[in-house]
Parts: sequence; C-alpha cells; structure tokens
Amino acid sequence: MKTTDGLRLILASTGASGSRLAEKFLEILLNNERVGKVHFLASEAFEEVLSAEESTTLGETIDRHRKNDKFFLHDCDDFGAPFSSGSYRHDGMVILPLSMASLGAIASGAHRDLVHRAADVTLKEERKLILCPRETPLSLIHLRNLVAVREAGATVLPFIPAYYTRPKTIEDLENNFFQKILDHLGLENTISPRWGS
Ligand SMILES: Cc1cc2nc3c(=O)[nH]c(=O)nc-3n(C[C@H](O)[C@H](O)[C@H](O)COP(=O)(O)O)c2cc1C
Repeated sequence: MKTTDGLRLILASTGASGSRLAEKFLEILLNNERVGKVHFLASEAFEEVLSAEESTTLGETIDRHRKNDKFFLHDCDDFGAPFSSGSYRHDGMVILPLSMASLGAIASGAHRDLVHRAADVTLKEERKLILCPRETPLSLIHLRNLVAVREAGATVLPFIPAYYTRPKTIEDLENNFFQKILDHLGLENTISPRWGS
C-alpha cells in the first residue's frame, strides 16, 4: 500500500550488536523521497548497546531527527501506538538489529513490548516484516526461532558482508546490506554497486 503521503514504515531497534546500522538506516529512510513516515522505536537494551558501541546516545539521535516531520518516535511500552493495531496500514516493518531475546518473543507470539507486538501484528496482517538478527554462533534455539518467523512470513536478512562488490571500507559493506533491505521494501536505490551492472 502506498499512501498519497508516501510510504509508512516502522523501524524498530533492539539490543543486539550493530547499533550504528540502525542509526544509519534511520537516516537513509528519512532522506528517501518516497518515504512519508518513519515510526521509530527502540528497546531499553538498544539504548544500552548503543552507548557501549558508539560515542553517542539515543537521546542525541532523537534530538537530531526531532524536527523532521517524517520522524515519529514511540515508547516501547506504548501499546496504544497506531501500528499496535492491524487496522493501521503500513508498508513494512524492519527490526534492525534484532536480538535473540526479541526473536524468541516474536517466534513464540509472547510479546513483551511494542516491538514484539508490532511484529506480531505485521505478520498477522501479512505485511512485510524484515528481521535483521545478530548473533554468532547460532544455537539450535535461535535457528528454530528463525525458521518459525520465516514460516510465519518474515524475511530474515542478517548483516552478512558481501565481498563481490570489492568493498574498501566498512561503509561499503554496510551499504550493500542497506541496499538489500531497501530492495525488499521496494525502494529504488543506487546505494551500492550491483553484481552484473
Ligand atoms: C554490548 C551488548 C551487546 C549485545 N549484543 C547482543 C547481540 O549481538 N545479540 C543478542 O541477541 N543479544 C545481545 N546482547 C544482549 C541483549 O541486549 C539482551 O538479551 C537484551 O535483553 C535484549 O533485549 P531486547 O530484545 O528487548 O532489546 C548484547 C548486550 C550488550 C550489553
């Protein structure tokens, strides 16, 4: 569904490593002219991981985007958010990064917070749900949970570096990953070279 105001997307971030990917992808979505609304929510653990991994805080990120009229911030315990109901139509939800704890909650349907509830609703309404899990190695529990969410209709899209683009920087590797998410959201992009082009 494309509204006249542009695509409505949900970006949720949980407490797995790779918090900078969330920060960068948020920026990419907000700068995309086809995107009309980005609903953003982050778990408490995301905040903790971000502070551990980067020299920035979630508060600073929020302050940077607060004045952008495409940016809609939600608390993780706000089950009254629009997309907590299937009657709110949106064009896709991305969870980046996705922790194994949140993966387990989504796979079991036993949601603890708005991230899990929104993912649950996105699946039941058969809308696009892109999960970007991060853990290594993967236990049998993780693998079974990944199969469960895939069977329920989610796209499982982990950050796995591609070398065929001859990357020179970490940003090159990250852009290749972002390209795959954008492609799955149906957003045209030239953010990274493509094989065969
Ligand atoms: C610095 C740091 C890095 C972490 N990295 C991961 C990770 O890569 N994958 C993961 O599943 N959990 C990771 N965790 C553990 C999760 O943050 C923890 O399980 C948390 O309860 C997840 O909650 P959430 O899913 O509500 O965000 C990390 C924790 C910290 C403090």
